[in-house]
Amino acid sequence: MDAGPPDMRKGIRHLFRTRGALMERTYRALGMMSGTSMDGIDAAVIETDGDREVRCLGGLTTPFDPEFRKILFAMQGRKTPMAEVETALTLGHAEAVEKLLEKLAMTPEQIDVIGFHGQTTFHAPNDRVTVQMGDGPLLAGKTGIPVVHDFRRADVEAGGEGAPFAPVYHAARAAGLEKPLLVVNLGGVGNLTYIGRDGDLMAFDTGPANAPIDDWVARHGAGDQDTDGALALAGKAERGRITHSLRNSFFRKPPPKSLDRSEFAWELVKGLSLEDGCATLARFAAETVVQGRAFLPEKPKRVLVSGGGRHNKAIMACLAERMQVPVEPCEAAGWDGGLLEAEAFAYMAVRHLLGEPISFPTTTGVRAPMVGGKLALPSGRQAPAA
Ligand SMILES: Nc1ncnc2c1ncn2[C@@H]1O[C@H](COP(=O)(O)OP(=O)(O)O)[C@@H](O)[C@H]1O
Ligand SMILES: [Mg+2]
Repeated sequence: MDAGPPDMRKGIRHLFRTRGALMERTYRALGMMSGTSMDGIDAAVIETDGDREVRCLGGLTTPFDPEFRKILFAMQGRKTPMAEVETALTLGHAEAVEKLLEKLAMTPEQIDVIGFHGQTTFHAPNDRVTVQMGDGPLLAGKTGIPVVHDFRRADVEAGGEGAPFAPVYHAARAAGLEKPLLVVNLGGVGNLTYIGRDGDLMAFDTGPANAPIDDWVARHGAGDQDTDGALALAGKAERGRITHSLRNSFFRKPPPKSLDRSEFAWELVKGLSLEDGCATLARFAAETVVQGRAFLPEKPKRVLVSGGGRHNKAIMACLAERMQVPVEPCEAAGWDGGLLEAEAFAYMAVRHLLGEPISFPTTTGVRAPMVGGKLALPSGRQAPAA
């Protein structure tokens, strides 16, 4: 980053259309996300004007089968994932669409657009490369619905971090809530979104969250996650090691910044028991969020937590103890913390259709607000009119 930290008061002015604009049309959009945890495909349908108005219609999560999850892991680090795997992943998404439409009693014609994130296999923003595996045209063909995909590429090619992207959606959903508000998403990696009094936005990856916990539990043959943080609660965190690991330059670097799943020092848990390792990793995940607080322009009034990590009682207890403000799962604000990211990509697909930006200098460090994604149309359907 040669430009230094961006002025966070700039960059967000373009987020929402000015008041008094004509009534905008509403789109029905389906978003799909499979995050760094590689636990499955989250899918959700929303209705939105791509601006401040959002109505959530429901969603579901389709877990990856364990064999396929192993294959996805094997694709990590690949700039060119295997074509067969990309096809299988895309067909899995087509099935998720079918299941969700059935659940919501909707037809493909009733969905204006799909936002298809795909599975990240390679993310090196400094080299201006990010790869999300997933075949947009194939998904459009299979579902009969226009698909926006490859959301992160334009941002990274323009010098941004290519993450996080959900902040634009958090800001829309936070419209009626007290500010400053902090939204913490605990997926494989943790990230936060700060929404200030004037709607100013700041976001960055805070550090590893569930991914190392999952890996640690799996390595002990104890399942694929620390459900509800039960193992962590039975163990003891190695605070000295945590303090030491927090000295890593990533945590001291001012935002914007993003983290890949694989970037993690195993020294933190080397030689520990299963429980103590879980306790240490859970506290570490929380402490990286606490550390991130130093970069915020103002102390938030409230913290809302989304992502699978909100179920980890050890992480939540540590956050509550250390943040000095109320920390709650985002359900406290009426948000579905398991579907939020999928909804966000539905919202971003609509913003693509409208030519509205999804990333900003204060979220990804990109120099100017960026529109993201590529549109793939199925035969017989045109792009929804803006
Ligand atoms: N009940 C639970 N208790 C503890 N951790 C959970 C629970 N449910 C999910 N998780 C964690 O959340 C992760 C998935 O979170 P998610 O928000 O889907 O992240 P991602 O976007 O990276 O896929 C899982 O890998 C798991 O570690
Ligand atoms: Mg997930």
